[in-house]
Amino acid sequence: MQFTDTHTHLYSEAFDEDQDVMIQRAIEAGVTRFFIPAIDSEYTERMYALEATYPDHMFLMMGLHPTHVKENYEEELAHVEAQFKQRSFYAVGEIGIDLYWDKSTLEIQKDAFKRQIQLAKKYKLPIVIHCREAFDEVFEVLESEKGEDLFGIFHCFTGTKEHALRAISYNLKLGIGGVVTFKNGKIDQFLSEIPLEHIVLETDAPYLSPVPYRGKRNESSYVTLVAEKLATIYQKPLNEIAEITSENANAVFINVKTI
Ligand code: NI
Repeated sequence: MQFTDTHTHLYSEAFDEDQDVMIQRAIEAGVTRFFIPAIDSEYTERMYALEATYPDHMFLMMGLHPTHVKENYEEELAHVEAQFKQRSFYAVGEIGIDLYWDKSTLEIQKDAFKRQIQLAKKYKLPIVIHCREAFDEVFEVLESEKGEDLFGIFHCFTGTKEHALRAISYNLKLGIGGVVTFKNGKIDQFLSEIPLEHIVLETDAPYLSPVPYRGKRNESSYVTLVAEKLATIYQKPLNEIAEITSENANAVFINVKTI
């Protein structure tokens, strides 16, 4: 049984002490493919180093995270574009809008989001969306960019059933992580009504650990706990959840090595 973690920040400082052991633990648990979202230029070298150490397991994205869209965002976007000119990536991500941390940057967040969607279209790549307290704003941008060339993942999906259906209408899969195991996470209430073909697994490590590790450091091996919860919700054996969600990841991250 093999799992795909479609969103994990394995290069984070949170893993500086035990990165190798933690990655081995995930691989031993059957988590064999890791999709690595970018944050900003500070982390680019760390991402490349991770890929160099585990070339068969790590699949990199490139992009500017919405909470890192600041006064210098033109320089940061230029850095992102420069990386795409040098090499290939599996997605543009993570990108989007976050109004939880800072509402004052909404306009530049929207601009960065839109321009990175256009970058993804230029390279025929999926986008990986981060949305926090910003469903209306994210959907407004997606509405203006929708089309066959727009596709990807709505990462860490925490919305309502209506939000889920709208995201799916833009060719997006829902990235489901630890929140689905939370008592007050709400998405477990309606997820069974969303066909499994629209779901991919993720951890968002080191954040948002599933129960029983809620509040502690998250790591990619815990994606199996998310899969177990989905097995209960969808009333399917765990191996089917592993297989279908991995195939769904293959459908998004075109040309990725399959397992
Ligand atoms: Ni993330």
